[in-house]
Amino acid sequence: TRTAAVVPAAGRGVRLGPGAPKALRALGGTPMLIHAIRAMAASRGVSLVVVVAPPDGAAEVKSLLDAHALPERTDFLVVPGGESRQESVALGLQALPPEYGIVLVHDAARPLVPVDTVDAVIDAVREGAPAVVPALPLADTVKEVRPARVPGEPEPVVATPERARLRAVQTPQGFDRETLLRAHGTVTENVTDDASMVEQLGLTVVVVPGHEEAFKVTRPLDLVLAEAVLARRRL
Ligand code: CTP
Ligand code: MG
Repeated sequence: TRTAAVVPAAGRGVRLGPGAPKALRALGGTPMLIHAIRAMAASRGVSLVVVVAPPDGAAEVKSLLDAHALPERTDFLVVPGGESRQESVALGLQALPPEYGIVLVHDAARPLVPVDTVDAVIDAVREGAPAVVPALPLADTVKEVRPARVPGEPEPVVATPERARLRAVQTPQGFDRETLLRAHGTVTENVTDDASMVEQLGLTVVVVPGHEEAFKVTRPLDLVLAEAVLARRRL
C-alpha cells in the first residue's frame, strides 16, 4: 500500500514572534517548510506529500515548491489550511487520493526529523499498528497544576506523574488511513495531536523511538538550535 504525508504548515507561529508565517521562515537560507517536505520525501516509502498552506498562502507555497529541488519520484499537492491544526490536517485529508492506505501527519515546524525516524513510523504501521507516534523520554520532571484563577497568582501543584512513564511525542505520526479518517470524523473537541483522537476511539497507539533532531521549532531559542543542527550536518 502507498504512503502519503500530510504536512500542516498553516500556523502563524505566534510563539516564535512577529514575522512571516512560521513554516515560511528561513532556516539555513531555506524555508522551514521545504526542509520538512524534504524530510518526508527522503523516505522511499512516501510517494505523495500534501502541504497544508497558510489560508491565504497556497499560491506562495506552490511557487516555493517549484523553486526548490525536490525528489522526482514524489508527488505534491497544496491545499489551504484552517483556524486550528486539527482543521488544517482535516483539510489535508480531504485532498488525499483513495490509493494511499498509510498516512503520515508531520508538522512543518519539525524541519529536521531524520529519515530513519520517518521510516520507523511507516514500518510500524505496515506491521499492523493503526496508529504510531515517535516519542522520547523527558528530561524535566512534569507537574500538573490547577491553573491560576487570577493571572499572575501562583499555581498550586495537583500531581507529579512518574517521569519514567512519560514520553514527549513528536511527528511524523503514522496511521492506517481508515483509522485516521474515522478519528477526524468522530472527535470534535480540541486536541494537540492526531494520535490522541485515535486513542479516543479506544484503539491502541504505539510508540517508536523518536529523535532529538525531530524537536519542534516553537520559540526563538529553538531557531538557534535548528540553525546549529543544520550547520553541523553541513560540515
Ligand atoms: N498548524 C496548521 N494550522 C493551524 C495551526 C497550526 O497547519 N491553524 C501547523 C503549524 O503550521 C505547525 C504545526 O501545526 O507546523 C504545529 O503547530 P505549532 O507548532 O503550534 O505552530 P503554530 O500554530 O504556527 O505556532 P503558535 O502556536 O506559536 O502560533
Ligand atoms: Mg499552534
